[in-house]
Amino acid sequence: MTLQPPPAEELDELEDLCVELAREAGRLIVDERPPDLGVARTKSTATDIVTVMDQRAQDLLRTRIQRARPHDGFLGEEEGGVAARSEITWVVDPIDGTVNYLYGIPAYAVSVAATVGDPTTDGAWAPVAGAVVNPVTGELFHARQGGGAWLRTSGGPGRRLRLGEPPTLALALAGTGFGYEAARRRWQARVLGDVLPQVRDIRRIGSAALDICAVAAGTLDCYFERGLNPWDMAAAWVVVTEAGGVFSGLDGHGPGDRMVVAGAPGLHAELEAVLSAAAERAGQE
Ligand code: IPD
Repeated sequence: MTLQPPPAEELDELEDLCVELAREAGRLIVDERPPDLGVARTKSTATDIVTVMDQRAQDLLRTRIQRARPHDGFLGEEEGGVAARSEITWVVDPIDGTVNYLYGIPAYAVSVAATVGDPTTDGAWAPVAGAVVNPVTGELFHARQGGGAWLRTSGGPGRRLRLGEPPTLALALAGTGFGYEAARRRWQARVLGDVLPQVRDIRRIGSAALDICAVAAGTLDCYFERGLNPWDMAAAWVVVTEAGGVFSGLDGHGPGDRMVVAGAPGLHAELEAVLSAAAERAGQE
């Protein structure tokens, strides 16, 4: 499926808006994170507090987007989607890495992407611009189609991200993640059992958006996960591909719920082949 990106001038505006909004929502979730969240985490209320912050950050993003671009659609992890009356649908994750947010582990992100196509259908959409910010460290990844991938740190100048020559799979540091359901985790554990002996090591950082951006920045060599939602991957997808990486599913399919695989071309192919065989062996969930 060919998805037509908007003209370059509009892409620049979309990228700027992604950056501005990700930063603003990032400030909200850090500044207003209740300090006693970690203490409350044994109680069911802790999850509710995180959900409230998720919803508040998403509402902020939706309000700002609707003000700036009233005809665009909106899809987020929380409630409140809007159907598109233009070519663009915004796909946002107000807090990616919610468990890290709950525990105060500084590896969570706001992810904001402008996409074309239908982001509710795997294979029928693609991001055209995106920004992922870790509001605790100040790291900000952003990209737009054809404009390169960039990493900015607080106060520092932007650095263009370009994937170098990858290691072989045996020497690769691979990121992954796990879903929330027991049956999915059993399946993921079976696949991991096949992958782990074939890589240098595995990292489970806890934010898919940051993991995929880490591949773009070279702090992970590759990444794979089953069960990602569009909002987990949308912005990071354009960052890693603009850095020269490949972002796909398995067996010629696009990235989607069944699997996403990210890495530099040669390494990506090696990992995909291993995952394809492992997924086959793992059988049904
Ligand atoms: C989760 C994180 C995690 C990944 C899960 C996602 P959330 O997103 O990205 O790293 O392994 O699959 O659901 O729930 O924190 O927004």
